[in-house]
Amino acid sequence: MYLLEGNLEQGVFVIKVLFVCTGNICRSPTAEGVFRHLVAEQGLDNRFCVDSAGIDSYHEGEKPDARAIRTAKKRGVEIGSQRARRLSEQDYFEFDYILAMDGGHYYEIQVRAPERRKARIEMFLRSASEVKDTEVPDPWYGNEKDFEDVYALIEKGARALLERLREENKF
Ligand code: 4NP
Repeated sequence: MYLLEGNLEQGVFVIKVLFVCTGNICRSPTAEGVFRHLVAEQGLDNRFCVDSAGIDSYHEGEKPDARAIRTAKKRGVEIGSQRARRLSEQDYFEFDYILAMDGGHYYEIQVRAPERRKARIEMFLRSASEVKDTEVPDPWYGNEKDFEDVYALIEKGARALLERLREENKF
């Protein structure tokens, strides 16, 4: 089993998780919001640090896509205050997990990885063994239904990830 090096903050072991997609305006902000929401529901705010970033910088500083904000809001998840940013070199040393939404992101995250990074790089859906999809598809050119489908997939992935991290770290 993978053991985290540990981020001890104010006496509490904190796990740092970064979700990554292409533009950081649809999938990864949704994953950040859903994961944060689940963490709060389970009373674990002090155990996790959650963020998201994009492979590209085209949308740097922008809010998430209005369709992503709307889809999340319908389920009580607020993502409108997030702002897009590009994945940085510092992220590899700051986070314990960098989670890729699709294979292209996974490849690019690996290619950019500094040699002595701290972060473990994984496909986001890896923890969700009951889900047959391995990638979260890009909804950018899609319609509302595509955003709904992506949200449902992200929710499954986020629940499974949280469950697994709780099990592995015994809390
Ligand atoms: P995301 O979606 O990676 O889920 O944020 C996309 C947003 C913008 C673009 C591609 C994907 N784009 O090409 O601008």
